[in-house]
Amino acid sequence: MGKVAFLTGGGDCPGLNAVIAGAVRSLADERVETIGLVDGWKGALEGLTMEVTPASTANIIAEGGTILGSSRTNPYKEADGVAKIKDSFSRLDIDALVAIGGDDTLGVATRLFDEEKMHVVGVPKTIDNDLSSTDFTFGFDTAVNIAMDAVDKIRTTARSHHRVLVIETMGRHAGWIAAYAGIGGNADVTLVPELKVDVEAVCRTLKQNREKGQNFNIVVVSEGAIFQEGGYVTQDADLDEFGHVRLGGVADALSKMIEKQTGYETRSVVLGHLQRGGSPTAFDRMLGIRLGVHAAKMVTAGEWGKMAAMRGSRIVSVPLSEATGELKVLNDEFKELVRLFSS
Ligand code: F6P
Repeated sequence: MGKVAFLTGGGDCPGLNAVIAGAVRSLADERVETIGLVDGWKGALEGLTMEVTPASTANIIAEGGTILGSSRTNPYKEADGVAKIKDSFSRLDIDALVAIGGDDTLGVATRLFDEEKMHVVGVPKTIDNDLSSTDFTFGFDTAVNIAMDAVDKIRTTARSHHRVLVIETMGRHAGWIAAYAGIGGNADVTLVPELKVDVEAVCRTLKQNREKGQNFNIVVVSEGAIFQEGGYVTQDADLDEFGHVRLGGVADALSKMIEKQTGYETRSVVLGHLQRGGSPTAFDRMLGIRLGVHAAKMVTAGEWGKMAAMRGSRIVSVPLSEATGELKVLNDEFKELVRLFSS
């Protein structure tokens, strides 16, 4: 077999390097050569590579981000994008690709397998935890712990000033990060995209909690939360190469409404990219390593068009097309938890 290439696409997240370390170690064990493509699909299009060997990946498990670099490049937006990728692969003697990414990156991988019959396997990543076919994506646990820690920390200053503090989490159109950080962090109200925001009901809950003796409030809101009137809040009108809006700003908008309706002094905090930073938790390191090793085994077994996924406590292979077909949003159990802990 020729070389096995790796690329990481889309927003980075803690645990990407653990996947690479696991897969490289497993492939080296089978005497298969590996190579890195730099900056996601950009590297595949332009043939930009870096060394990825057992030696170069020996100490990267604890490192957040991705040693390969990442981008949101969409090869299907580029003239002759597919031909360019094929050309890079033949020049570099690449026989197979391990694509590590979210729905956009894996969507491209799915098309390269379905339409071009390329040797591709996938590994699901995203702090948003919104990919179908896998119970958890690595990066989520780290992001949730960062967000929950922020909720815990904000409590002391909220209490000192008797303020309402509104914390905005990432997560795109799925409320997983907000639900875990808000409920686990004991927020007064948690707002997620799956349940429309009723500002009057939010203010009612805050007032009730004050009447019970609490002299401050904490609200956690997911960046994709949708107001009953007005939809979600975006940073600008632009779309990225995969057609996504840039969410952000909901905490600021909401805090103004809360202050106006309740008279309580209110501040907002956007956690933003902090949630993707730093070292992965033990859970994310181990999930990354296990998925990486499984992806390597899929490559040596020729299981093309599949993705490594977590089902229960096991790692299994599932069709790539299933992974990208549908967004995994909060299920009924979690929606009920959010409702129960926000009233
Ligand atoms: O998909 C991961 C994510 O962090 C989302 O939660 C967020 O909306 C988006 O990426 C931010 O993207 P960027 O890094 O391009 O600003």
